[in-house]
Amino acid sequence: MNNNPIGVFDSGMGGLSVWLRVRQLMPNESIVYLADGKNCPYGDRTPDEIASLTKRAVEELLARGVKIVVVACNTATAMAIDMLRESFDVEFVGMEPAVKPAALSSQSGVIGIVATHAALSGELFRATSAKYADRVKILSAVGEGFVEIVEQGAEHTPEARKVVAEVIEPMLASGADRIVLGCTHYPFLMDAIESVVGERQVEIIDPAPAVARRVEWLLERDGLRADEQHRASYEFLSFADEEYRQKVEQRAKCLVGEK
Ligand code: DGL
Repeated sequence: MNNNPIGVFDSGMGGLSVWLRVRQLMPNESIVYLADGKNCPYGDRTPDEIASLTKRAVEELLARGVKIVVVACNTATAMAIDMLRESFDVEFVGMEPAVKPAALSSQSGVIGIVATHAALSGELFRATSAKYADRVKILSAVGEGFVEIVEQGAEHTPEARKVVAEVIEPMLASGADRIVLGCTHYPFLMDAIESVVGERQVEIIDPAPAVARRVEWLLERDGLRADEQHRASYEFLSFADEEYRQKVEQRAKCLVGEK
């Protein structure tokens, strides 16, 4: 048993989509969420920059005594997860592009994945896609502007719908019946995505619930679950200013209806 917190990291607010699932699945676990904020977005940065920013974030979380680290950022996972596993003596859970469930359930044989430029150019995406390439056609696209919209809290605006439509509509026009969200910021745009999809039989796949289950499984395996009676606490950190940190905290409260 271990009442130390779970560490969750993202370049910004997107990882709160994972934070929420972890919290819902394990309400007795404390969580420290670190949103870089200062260097966001990561998606257009070089692999070296992303790796060193991620390493710094992990060091910060470990200094807070976290018992496991969730890299709630597809971009950071793609560019740094191997290095992290070699560098630190703690268990890491990263974001996998959810190509598998999409490929296995697609009826049309065409799936779309939307992610950042860096995540799509990484080996993780290449290897995952190659596994299913003989089964489905995989269309990939950068969610140009998506992260910025979410960081600004502008996801329920006509502009958000327009930006989303530009990326999603061509996939739908090519017959995609599964759209994989390959960046943790994108679930915040679910309303805009659903409105673009409309009546079509298209499933949007968010890997966050599966990531939360993986965290639970690893904690169970390693005997690291918190006491059942443990009262969870939630802390929010950022490399940006206090105003940004408060925005992250506020957003998290909104997600659990505490606003
Ligand atoms: N939330 C991110 C991801 O999952 C990072 C987006 C970014 O900073 O560009 O990829």
